[in-house]
Amino acid sequence: MKRQEPTFYDNHPFDWTEGYSLPELDATLAPPLRSFIEDVPSDALVLDIGCGSGRVTACLAARRLRCVGLDVSGASVRLMMERTGTGGVVADGQGLPFADGSADRVIADGVIHHSGDPFGAFAESCRVLKSGGLFYAAVYKPGGRYQRLYQFPGSVIRWLIPYKLGRALIHTTLLPIYYLVHLAKSRGKRSWHGANNLFYDYFVTPCVRFLSCNELEQWSKQCGVEIVNYNPNPGLNVHSFLLQKPARTVQVAEAAAPHVGSARPDTNEVATPSAALALHLFHEAWHGFLAHVAHGHSSS
Ligand SMILES: C[S@@+](CC[C@H](N)C(=O)[O-])C[C@H]1O[C@@H](n2cnc3c(N)ncnc32)[C@H](O)[C@@H]1O
Repeated sequence: MKRQEPTFYDNHPFDWTEGYSLPELDATLAPPLRSFIEDVPSDALVLDIGCGSGRVTACLAARRLRCVGLDVSGASVRLMMERTGTGGVVADGQGLPFADGSADRVIADGVIHHSGDPFGAFAESCRVLKSGGLFYAAVYKPGGRYQRLYQFPGSVIRWLIPYKLGRALIHTTLLPIYYLVHLAKSRGKRSWHGANNLFYDYFVTPCVRFLSCNELEQWSKQCGVEIVNYNPNPGLNVHSFLLQKPARTVQVAEAAAPHVGSARPDTNEVATPSAALALHLFHEAWHGFLAHVAHGHSSS
C-alpha cells in the first residue's frame, strides 16, 4: 500500500482536550452542535468527518451512538480511536469511502474550511447523507477578528516558522504568551501541549478559507440540501449550518403537485432558511455594498 504523506495535522493534531471529563468535553462544543448531538436518534449512524483527536466523537460515543470518525490525518484518527474506542477511517473528506445515502447524521465541525477543495468536501458530506438525514457544518466566518489575526500576525508566524531561528523565536515569545492566556482562560486546565496544538491550528495551519452564508447557500442548492437552521455563534470564530437532505417521499409529492399548499409534515421547517440566516445575508450584502463604495472612493 502506498504510504501517505504526513499532513499538517499529523504533526500538529487538533489535540487540546486530553484529560477532560465528559462534561468538560461537552462544554467545549458550540451550543448548536450540543443540541444536534442530543437530538440524534439512538439507532442513527453518525459520521464525524475531520474528527481530529476525537473531541466530538467522544461526546457521541459517550451517548452510546453508532459513530465513525474519519480524518485525513492518521495520527489524529489513532488518537481518536485510543480515546473513544470508536471505529476510525483515514481518508480525505473530499472523497469519502462511503456509499451514497449511508449516514443518518453527518458532522463536519471546523473541517471544510481546511480542505483544499471546500465545496468538494461539502458535496461529499451531502452525498453520503440519507434522504431526510441531517448535516451539521461549522465553518470560519468571513470578516471577523480571527480572519484578521490569521492574516496578521499569522502571515508573519507562517513566514518565520519553517526556519530554525524563526521557530525558536516564536516558541520563546508568542507561544508562551498564548499558553499563559489560555491557562488563565481555562482556569488552569490547558496544558502546554494543548496550547501548542491550538496555536498551530489557529496561526500556522496552511489551508484556511473564510466561508460566507452566500457561499453555503449556493453550495446547498447545488447539492440538493436545504439549510434548516443557521447560527451565527456570536463570540465564536465559526458560524454553523444545519442542513437537511429532503426526504424522498416529499420530493415525489412535490413533483406530483408542485403548487398545492399540501401538508409537508417532515419539511415544515425546511422550506425557508431561518430568519437568522436571512438577516445575516442582508448584513453580508450591506457590508459588501459599503466595502464596494469605500473601495470606489479610495481608488478614484
Ligand atoms: C480544527 S480540526 C477539527 C477537529 C474536530 N472536528 C474537532 O472539532 O475537534 C480540523 C481537522 O480536519 C481534518 N481535515 C482537514 N482537511 C481534511 C480533509 N480534506 N479530509 C478529512 N479531514 C480533514 C484535519 O486533519 C483536522 O484533524
